[in-house]
Amino acid sequence: MRSGGAWPSLCSRRAENGKTAMTSEAGKPNSKDEAAAGAPPEFLIRLEHVSKRFGRHTVFKDLSLGFRRGETTVVLGASGVGKSVLLKLILGLLEPTRGRIFVDGSEITHLSERQLVPVRKRFGMVFQGAALFDFMTVYENVAFGLKEHTDLPEGDVRRIVKQKLALVDMDGTQNLLPEQLSGGMRKRVGLARAIAMEPEVILYDEPTTGLDPVTADTINDLILRCQRELRTTGIMVTHDMASAFKVGDRLVLLYEGEAIADGRPDEIRRHPDVRVQRFITGNASLTAAPKT
Ligand SMILES: Nc1ncnc2c1ncn2[C@@H]1O[C@H](COP(=O)(O)OP(=O)(O)O)[C@@H](O)[C@H]1O
Ligand SMILES: [Mg+2]
Repeated sequence: MRSGGAWPSLCSRRAENGKTAMTSEAGKPNSKDEAAAGAPPEFLIRLEHVSKRFGRHTVFKDLSLGFRRGETTVVLGASGVGKSVLLKLILGLLEPTRGRIFVDGSEITHLSERQLVPVRKRFGMVFQGAALFDFMTVYENVAFGLKEHTDLPEGDVRRIVKQKLALVDMDGTQNLLPEQLSGGMRKRVGLARAIAMEPEVILYDEPTTGLDPVTADTINDLILRCQRELRTTGIMVTHDMASAFKVGDRLVLLYEGEAIADGRPDEIRRHPDVRVQRFITGNASLTAAPKT
């Protein structure tokens, strides 16, 4: 993926990915892959009949879910439903117990760590709680991926870090340490770090959780700005409804191991399932019509 030290432009990388399917180690198209030579598959990321168990605890039963390129999908669900597990499955940090996972038409379900390296380079991750390196400055945190994965000269790294920090209104904080920042500022730096490499896909794990509503809304605005400017595909997991309706092109609700709703925000708002209404209104006393 490293192209001789040159910084690959987002667009050229996109075009490349659209044309060529990932290949097996032998360099031949992987027969398990669904990527035909023609148009790229509808879903950039797809889970097919995925189940995930930890011992006797079943997190996902038979989950089939696709994420379209260029869209921001928000996956909602109560605490402990498996939102972070879903992101880890997509990143290949966890393997499903059953089922298959595809990225751009190529199956990644059982790839080795080494085989996953080029796949993971396509993803940027905004971790729950920002997860900055405490002992590194803001600059070092945002520059981390660029220094690890590219041969860019320091001047270019500085320029990119400055540009990404400006996108989240944090230019000028390069020399500060995370402990000198507020929670909202840390989340912004986490966002800048995730977009530093201009990934095709950004995964957000509860980016607004723990913030006051105004700060949370600022983060939502910044996420929207980054999504528009970088034209990335977004997958956000959260239980923050305001955030979901603000940034989501599409919302999915996870409930007891299944996706019980999947649609545009307006479709979710008037979803007939009482479990969906309970979740989006936060009204636990809504009761289901008796089963007939
Ligand atoms: N590595 C793991 N080993 C065992 N259980 C896990 C592991 N990761 C997550 N779980 C369990 O899976 C369930 C879903 O977790 P998680 O995805 O973190 O929930 P959330 O929706 O709050 O992000 C929880 O019951 C959690 O305890
Ligand atoms: Mg979580």
